[in-house]
Amino acid sequence: MAFKTVEISPNVFWVGIEDWNRRFFDAFIPLPNGTSYNSYLIVGKEKTALIDTVNPGFEKILLKKISQIVPPGKIDYIIMNHAEPDHAGGILEVMKVAPNAKVVATKLGVDMTKIYFDVPSERRISVKDGDTLELGQKTLKFIEAPWLHWPETMFTFNMEDSVLFTCDFLGSHITSDKLFADEVGGLLMPEAKRYYAEIMMPFSASAQKALDKVNLLNPKIIAPSHGPVHRNPQSIIEAYEKWTRGPLEKKVIVVYVSMWGSTQTLERIITETISTEGVETVPYNLTVADISHVLRDLVDASAVVIGTPTVLGGAHPLALYATELIASFGVRGKIAAIFGSFGWGGGATRRVKLRLEKGGFEVVYTLDVRGPPKPAHIEKAVSLGKAVAKRVKEAT
Ligand code: FEO
Repeated sequence: MAFKTVEISPNVFWVGIEDWNRRFFDAFIPLPNGTSYNSYLIVGKEKTALIDTVNPGFEKILLKKISQIVPPGKIDYIIMNHAEPDHAGGILEVMKVAPNAKVVATKLGVDMTKIYFDVPSERRISVKDGDTLELGQKTLKFIEAPWLHWPETMFTFNMEDSVLFTCDFLGSHITSDKLFADEVGGLLMPEAKRYYAEIMMPFSASAQKALDKVNLLNPKIIAPSHGPVHRNPQSIIEAYEKWTRGPLEKKVIVVYVSMWGSTQTLERIITETISTEGVETVPYNLTVADISHVLRDLVDASAVVIGTPTVLGGAHPLALYATELIASFGVRGKIAAIFGSFGWGGGATRRVKLRLEKGGFEVVYTLDVRGPPKPAHIEKAVSLGKAVAKRVKEAT
């Protein structure tokens, strides 16, 4: 039987894997659409290069796909844009069948091939920004693009065909029988944004520098190693421009958890007030929310409001988890407010406030309520909503 390969440019082949069944990434981000591990084979007149490999477990299918195009033993170079095992996990299997193949990576990447995969030193080639590799009518140029999403990451540019291989950058967790971004319809941008939030938002400063390099190269095709290939790359570049350095939206994300309804009562008042003030709100009840949707919506939100009851002198565990992610994931909208309820001794809002402030947030209002909210508490919840809406309007 033949496995699917796609020639995305003359003698440049997609030989990747569609992982329809994967349901989590990094052990916490849901993958409702699975993901893909895109590997690309470039066949030059004299040399053959494989760009990135696949997640462990899929090496045999990768090799079968390659063998439909060239004997895998003919591979001269394995270009490792990123050392994370979902792309580099197949290196050793490819090296076994391609005895002359050498792994090409940044200096840090080369070090990682030793640490992660025990690649012998004579089979490693270190490249730096601007270096080129001649395959025969196919020239590969290497572009250092660190911290996307590990420190060793780089891009590879196929100069003749103007194809830029970006590994994690500009990718998405989508698996589809369709390879190209323009074929997957409305699924692409929300998923690309959700992916951006988890993988790239913590590194948005690096992403901005990388975008400048991408814009300079002006590639015809952008071929990431997750999700669809962009043969009209302008839309994903513009989306990344907005997510990394564009203006924030007049939008507030309210995340909360409630055990006996007091915190939820406050949440309804706060959400309604912010909305009535003309600022978009998106509430997430953490008992049912997908945390990746919270992060996605925080990509371009101006503010976040966190609500939690006090549990054992601190915040509810779900609120602690959300607060930790929000404080550490490079959220750009740094306006915050906190509210919560307690029965006999508080502590929840203080705990959340400390963590948010450590993450660079400015907490503009804190509201603590003992027991079910009374009319005076409702008034304070309205004040909190108005204070947040006012700051957001001033900032946008
Ligand atoms: Fe898809 Fe950072 O690996």
